[in-house]
Amino acid sequence: MNISADNAIVRLEDVHLSFGQTEVLKGIDLTVNRGDAVSIIGPSGSGKSTILRCINALVQPQSGRITVNRTRVDQLTRESERIALRKRVGIVFQQYNLFPHLTVLDNIVLAPTRILGTDRREAEKLARELLEKVRLAEKANAYPGQLSGGQQQRVAIARALAMKPELVLFDEVTSALDPETVGEVLWVIRDLIRDGMTSILVTHEMRFAEEISDTVVFTENGRIIDQGSPEQIFHSADNPRVRQFVSGLSGRGPVRDGEGI
Ligand SMILES: Nc1ncnc2c1ncn2[C@@H]1O[C@H](COP(=O)(O)OP(=O)(O)O)[C@@H](O)[C@H]1O
Ligand SMILES: [Mg+2]
Repeated sequence: MNISADNAIVRLEDVHLSFGQTEVLKGIDLTVNRGDAVSIIGPSGSGKSTILRCINALVQPQSGRITVNRTRVDQLTRESERIALRKRVGIVFQQYNLFPHLTVLDNIVLAPTRILGTDRREAEKLARELLEKVRLAEKANAYPGQLSGGQQQRVAIARALAMKPELVLFDEVTSALDPETVGEVLWVIRDLIRDGMTSILVTHEMRFAEEISDTVVFTENGRIIDQGSPEQIFHSADNPRVRQFVSGLSGRGPVRDGEGI
């Protein structure tokens, strides 16, 4: 069962998930190839975060298959196995949750030294390289409270990368930021994708999704109702619901700061 032979790094097959009586995922099929960037868009409550949480084994579906490289994520039974998976699958949330009492550098060094057992000097060297990458080299000794939201989110991205993950999940990482700091975070993610990091992004930044994605997936009410290239989804969707959403006419729209499509 060599799943990586076809270049897929993540595969969801007919995934169903309910919270109590509420069916939240109603048969999700999704394949993400190594090095690809896949954006998940769609209305609030449609199951986007739940898809990411399944991939990271934060929630377990009732049926279906989830594979990350060769690991059958849906079959993991022990917490230790889930923790092992989460070392390989980075996740960055809207809330960055940095430790306020630790410097930026120590926030990044913590997991590699504690969880991977990386030697402090080596972890620090990597942390400094990552800070360079997220354009915050000069903030190594600052505390999170001294940084803007956008800067803190960039530290959170560096912290995820410090585990050398096989892929990174981004869940609306710019949604809580002041508009003027959104751009700097998107720049960092764009660089990572250009460097070939496999990424799955839930985002409301439609222009960004259009620019950086290999594939765009549209979810509604627990189902993927359309997927395709950015060109297909943003400019030639057959589905009227998708067309309406991407044109920003759907309530919580993608349009920001007058950036109409
Ligand atoms: N832990 C949970 N318990 C109960 N319902 C949940 C839980 N997490 C999410 N839901 C419900 O599942 C649906 C999908 O949620 P979510 O995946 O967060 O949507 P999205 O990210 O697209 O906004 C929503 O109706 C939400 O209320
Ligand atoms: Mg969500």
